[in-house]
Amino acid sequence: MAQLAIKPPMGWNHWNTFGWSVTETDIYECVDYLADNGFREAGYEFVTIDDCWMAGERGPNGELMADPKTFPHGMKALGDYIHSKGFKFGIYEDGGVRTCAGRPGSYGHEREDAAQFASWGVDFLKYDFCYVPAGADGKLLFRRMGQALRETGRDIVFSACWSGGECHEWARTAGAHMWRLSGDIFDNWKSISATGYHALDMSRYSGPMGWNDPDMLVAGLFGEGYVGRIGGGSTLEEYTTHFALWCILSAPLFLGHDLRKTTPEIKELLLNPEMIAINQDDACIPGWDLPCLDEFCRIAAKPLANGDIAILLVNGDDCPRWVGYSFESCGWSPSDKIFARDVIRREDIGVLDCGGSCYVPSHGCKLLRCTRVKS
Ligand code: GLA
Repeated sequence: MAQLAIKPPMGWNHWNTFGWSVTETDIYECVDYLADNGFREAGYEFVTIDDCWMAGERGPNGELMADPKTFPHGMKALGDYIHSKGFKFGIYEDGGVRTCAGRPGSYGHEREDAAQFASWGVDFLKYDFCYVPAGADGKLLFRRMGQALRETGRDIVFSACWSGGECHEWARTAGAHMWRLSGDIFDNWKSISATGYHALDMSRYSGPMGWNDPDMLVAGLFGEGYVGRIGGGSTLEEYTTHFALWCILSAPLFLGHDLRKTTPEIKELLLNPEMIAINQDDACIPGWDLPCLDEFCRIAAKPLANGDIAILLVNGDDCPRWVGYSFESCGWSPSDKIFARDVIRREDIGVLDCGGSCYVPSHGCKLLRCTRVKS
């Protein structure tokens, strides 16, 4: 078995936009969009079909079947198409008797389901935790599926989706390559900031082959789609902070909007190579929380393999603010001169003193790539 998820996995997942009403046509068209718009080259690798792909009941031999109405060509054909376009194939199941949307779960069928996924060419499994029988040991359910996946002999990234079970404490030992830290994200600033800040507090649990997962991205939903309608919507400024936070956290980057409706600004953001490079940096050090004097602001730092440090300054307040920083707390000394580049705008800022402040719009951020000037 190969070492999987050495870097945070990247891809797209249907849930945040299509939710319960997904069809195979949506997926085929979104795969085409990813392939035709440079997303594969940017690192987005997995196309994941979330809940509601299965028929309401198992087949005569206990096998999982694609929903005949919404996925008439079946999962093998869809997986083959995803592979033919150079992507990897992700799928969803649940450790209970039913998935969260009420389709058949894997409880008691773990081994057969894992074998079936492997035979379809599945490369990634998101495994949820709804409808678990009373008294069942949650950790054991994940261990069972992790074991079943490894025994297939196929390389399958295992994504544990259980926000209530302190997954970060044990999911790595169940063979999971990423684990959810919190409940579902919705499309508004309150949800984005709460989810992202919580992940910042938990960064000590994240690292190569076992990443904290603050949930999929809502950038680009603009209040549309399943999670968009629940949340109400966010602004481009807020989506930029959202993406910057997930990049500095070393979070898995799963796009969640209807790709066919991607605006030019969102496309530019999600393909920003300098932001993605921070997320995928070879040192694999997750961003951590730097002290911030102001209760409305958060500052994070992520040390990078070439000696640079990425610094994120977030203004969570409802009005613009000066956000103060001190590079000293990252390991530099007060007399150091630091060269900073604005990674979002992709332009050099110049030399800064070791401490200072930046003017940041409401719910906005500055993402700096900083290099010590060697004299
Ligand atoms: C849970 C998960 C979501 C999604 C749905 C599907 O709520 O947290 O990400 O997978 O189930 O029903």
